[in-house]
Amino acid sequence: MADRTYLVTGGCGFIGSCFIRMILDRDPQAQVINLDLLTYAGNPANVASIEESPRYRFARVDVRDLAGLESWVEQSDVIVHFAAESHVDRSTSEAAGAFIDTNVGGTFALLEAMRRYRPEARFLQIGTDEVYGDIEAPNEPDEDALLLPSSPYSASKAAADHVALSFERTHGLDVLVSRCTNNYGPYQYPEKMIPLFITNALENIPLPLYDGGTQIRDWLRVEDHCEAILLLLGSGESGEIYNIGANQRPERTNADITKMILECLGQSESGVEVREGLRPGHDQRYAVSTQKIRSLGWMPQRDITDGIEATVRWYADHRDWWTPLKSGAYRTFYEAHYGSGASDFKTS
Ligand code: NAD
Ligand code: DAU
Repeated sequence: MADRTYLVTGGCGFIGSCFIRMILDRDPQAQVINLDLLTYAGNPANVASIEESPRYRFARVDVRDLAGLESWVEQSDVIVHFAAESHVDRSTSEAAGAFIDTNVGGTFALLEAMRRYRPEARFLQIGTDEVYGDIEAPNEPDEDALLLPSSPYSASKAAADHVALSFERTHGLDVLVSRCTNNYGPYQYPEKMIPLFITNALENIPLPLYDGGTQIRDWLRVEDHCEAILLLLGSGESGEIYNIGANQRPERTNADITKMILECLGQSESGVEVREGLRPGHDQRYAVSTQKIRSLGWMPQRDITDGIEATVRWYADHRDWWTPLKSGAYRTFYEAHYGSGASDFKTS
């Protein structure tokens, strides 16, 4: 079998780094090029375990920089586009412009680079279930559902999906889109709910549970998401969209997940602080139909109780990974967003 070169953008982030570790492990013919700007969310430590591999290369490149992309794109067979501004709370602040620039402009530049320099490649746009908006129970939108994104983040991702699919239709490029639900697992930047709550609990800092914690997310292990991506790269059809999700039964609220985390740590709920108004436009429920990808043979491999337990254990065992992340600019963001005093240690 001939070598296949995977160009991965955002490979120093949470999901991209998991994908790179997985593809190098699974496919002995795989060569990986990781292009990442190393924003606050990009962390070289996420790929430390494979950085010495002769099949791995890294370059600090901005996906919005068409000229900077040329030499990398022209040697690629498969492009998996993870790079994005990904945190909803940041997108509801004055940082929103960066979401439009990176998520829409970056996706366009990468597609344009592929059109010019490597039109034979396959392009997977990594999208999100948030593009369908707030979903009333028990509905589960399929891939043809109306897009009703609520935040500047999800609106930018919806636009990026459309740009990607327009390059398939207009230019005949091999482009597909996946839309996954909330991921959790190792190496997730501790601004997202699960790693934030685990690490705060480990540090004895309050857990800021928004709006009563009644919201529903369809949490999926990051490894299950990456398995789905591998499947789509081989068996997905050009021009198609594929939802990916766990379809948790029963559905879990944020309060349920918080309780599971605290139980794993043997802590009471006294550290939970219900906070109102920190997420304007807060979506109540996300859910998707995943029949299409399941018909290709994919299904999640681990249940949420096991998955959360393993994740809590990972963060407890990897303080050296997350402790440095929770200082400096992170702390500035934290105090600006949650209020000064929010990162104070609990006394009881
Ligand atoms: P992340 O924030 O952990 O990582 C994003 C990565 O992109 C970082 O390494 C960052 O340095 C890089 N990046 C940002 N701007 C860049 C630019 N201009 N050029 C090059 N690199 C840049 O994000 P994540 O959680 O790993 O999400 C990855 C992708 O998956 C995103 O597209 C996100 O929308 C999508 N997604 C995430 C989830 C989730 O639950 N985290 C669910 C569904 C879809
Ligand atoms: O659904 C897929 C999306 O999942 C991805 O596209 C995004 O990139 C990813 O960040 C994630 O978005 P969410 O907004 O759902 O994830 P987050 O972890 O930020 O929030 C999950 C839920 O937890 C949400 O209802 C808000 C709540 N929350 C979040 C934070 C950060 C809290 O209660 N407290 C918090 O401090």
